[in-house]
Amino acid sequence: MKFERFLSAVSKARKPSPIRMATALMLRSPPSTISLGGGSPNPCTFPFRKLYVEISNGTNIRIEGKEMDRALQYSQSDGIPELKDWLKRIQKHFHQPPLMNDSNENELDLCVTVGSQDGLTKVFEMLLSPGDNMLLDDPNYPGSLAFLQPLPINLLPVDTDEFGMKSSSLREALSAWKPSDVLNPNSDIPKVLYTIPNCGNPTGASASTGRKLEIYKIAREYDLIIVEDDPYYFLQFNETVAPSYQQLDTDGRVIRSDSMSKVLSSGMRLGWISGAKPFIDRLVLHQQATLLHNSTLIQMLVWKLLEKWKLEGFQKHLKETKTFYESQKNVMIESANKWLTGLAEWNVPQGGMFLWIKLLGIDDTTELIQKRAMEKEIILIPGSAFSVKENVKSSYCRASFSLSSPENIDEGIRRLAELVREELDRKHK
Ligand SMILES: Cc1ncc(COP(=O)(O)O)c(C=O)c1O
Repeated sequence: MKFERFLSAVSKARKPSPIRMATALMLRSPPSTISLGGGSPNPCTFPFRKLYVEISNGTNIRIEGKEMDRALQYSQSDGIPELKDWLKRIQKHFHQPPLMNDSNENELDLCVTVGSQDGLTKVFEMLLSPGDNMLLDDPNYPGSLAFLQPLPINLLPVDTDEFGMKSSSLREALSAWKPSDVLNPNSDIPKVLYTIPNCGNPTGASASTGRKLEIYKIAREYDLIIVEDDPYYFLQFNETVAPSYQQLDTDGRVIRSDSMSKVLSSGMRLGWISGAKPFIDRLVLHQQATLLHNSTLIQMLVWKLLEKWKLEGFQKHLKETKTFYESQKNVMIESANKWLTGLAEWNVPQGGMFLWIKLLGIDDTTELIQKRAMEKEIILIPGSAFSVKENVKSSYCRASFSLSSPENIDEGIRRLAELVREELDRKHK
């Protein structure tokens, strides 16, 4: 693949920071090395001494002494090597990326980011130039839309259904171009496809293997990069799941975003981007120029947790987490069946934390959800908040089953049903 073709002018212009290179060099050097080069503060002046964290099985993680000095210090921009090793093992276990077996320049690498949000915005900055056309799921995650909508680019919405992005709609969105336009450097043929393949936010939809194969085939035909935003990957309820785009990718055209937010902690802000090394190298240069790196302390905590748990412990934790969310989902589906039958439609999510509900007979839920739902003391998100194009009407709303107790889920859905009935009555008066 010609990776250069996809890089924005800003990304191409990024150069390594000499100071960051000196830090990385020092961290790799033998202890006898004398560094007068770096700008790191002396940790003997820091007030923190040790950290003991109790984890759920009653054991502890301890960071103290030299390790504490390290945890409080600057570190590598792409992440501390021990955590990177663990994340690579996780990547290999869950996705068996074909690129990981390559010994050529396309080999897979990863960069630790501050949650996946940080990584995604850096990927967008790397790939998008003013005037570009970009393909993406519609509806979509408002966090990404908040970054993308103000950019001087043209967003091309692609319809989704219960299996995620529709390949027929993707072909339709691309119908203004021919695959051979890729050869014309002045063509405005899209280069980037952004998709949330599993337990989508907001739709809860997960793409089937068949769908993913169709989309990947189109991506090859039109030379598209697939940005695979998959923070709910670990929350898929079924034992057998469709392969990720990364697992299908033999070219290096998939850039994958992962996150520990939904399974370890959202407040810790730990995510990672993985993909072909030429892309990750560019991302690391961005990291050098903005954040420098994710918190060394947080990275060490997660590394030590994984070291304690091993892959088996991590999987056991994932299983328990999924069991919790699946039972919450079952409560919401039961309540929806009880209260909303005849008033609304929905697909049962195969994972994640969202139910995407279509309110029948209501063209736009925005005012209903933003005003009248509040009066009934129920908070939902109107479908319009997820539209790729602004000011679009939507009959949908998103209900989350992550935080509320089973009783509150049931009462919330009952109140929603009452609200819909009142709205329909008002319309028919
Ligand atoms: C689809 C999607 N992508 C990315 C994120 C950002 O997650 P984080 O930055 O916490 O990893 C979220 C958060 O809800 C999300 O739903």
